[in-house]
Amino acid sequence: MPSTLTALLCLGLCLSQMISSQKYTLMKPIIWAKPNSIIPKGNPVTIWCKGIHEAIEYHLLFKGQLSALERQKSHGLMNKVRFPIPAMTLHTAGRYNCIYLSGELWSKPSDPLDLVVTGMYDIPTLSVQPGPEVVSGENVTFHCHLETATNTFFLLKEGRSSRPQQRYGKNQADFFMGPMTPAHRGTYRCFGSYNDFAWSLPSEPVKLLVTGSIGDTSFAPTEPNSYDGEDSWDVYPSTTKTGFQKGPTT
Ligand SMILES: *[C@@H]1O[C@H](CO)[C@@H](O)[C@H](O)[C@H]1NC(C)=O
Repeated sequence: MPSTLTALLCLGLCLSQMISSQKYTLMKPIIWAKPNSIIPKGNPVTIWCKGIHEAIEYHLLFKGQLSALERQKSHGLMNKVRFPIPAMTLHTAGRYNCIYLSGELWSKPSDPLDLVVTGMYDIPTLSVQPGPEVVSGENVTFHCHLETATNTFFLLKEGRSSRPQQRYGKNQADFFMGPMTPAHRGTYRCFGSYNDFAWSLPSEPVKLLVTGSIGDTSFAPTEPNSYDGEDSWDVYPSTTKTGFQKGPTT
């Protein structure tokens, strides 16, 4: 019965092909930077790429071109690798991706990682209206000003997870923040940027204090010691010690 045989053969073959093609849909790797992706000129940063245990080689791509690779040594597992950059410069700032090889298949590229170098050229001035001490619900606007013309400004709140806010402006930009909540407390700095990946020196810090509205007894200070000392801001010794030092009084 050749037809039965063929059918059986196909069943086996087709099944194994289905299984192997499922196995070879490689997960996209994850890319990140430590201590973070906004790094002062001259400071080290490490790019991490995480794929799967079966990966045997990783490539770091910079502006779409191969810039470094890591191969499996002996038979160690390699679910993630590190690519150290000893000193951040204009030439190491830009967009990175990573990919990995498993068996004979390359993964898809990771999402992009944008590494920004700060500490270029000038120091902007940051101020806040109506002032650094506001009541919950009040609107606040930060003004960032730079003598030399640029086109983009960034406002960044201290802390690992904060995302920079971006505004366009030639010598100055306003960051309207809307009604304040205690979560907005913290230390802010602004930067002028010369291109997407090269920012100015940071402004002096502005420490924003948001107090509960009058009669609001439910208000409690949040994260009084959220500054963990490991932040990249540590590398600005001339600016971190100055400014508004008044903390929550308990
Ligand atoms: C804050 O700004 C919003 C939007 O512009 C406005 O509607 C609101 O009245 C302002 N609140 C205060 C307290 O000024």
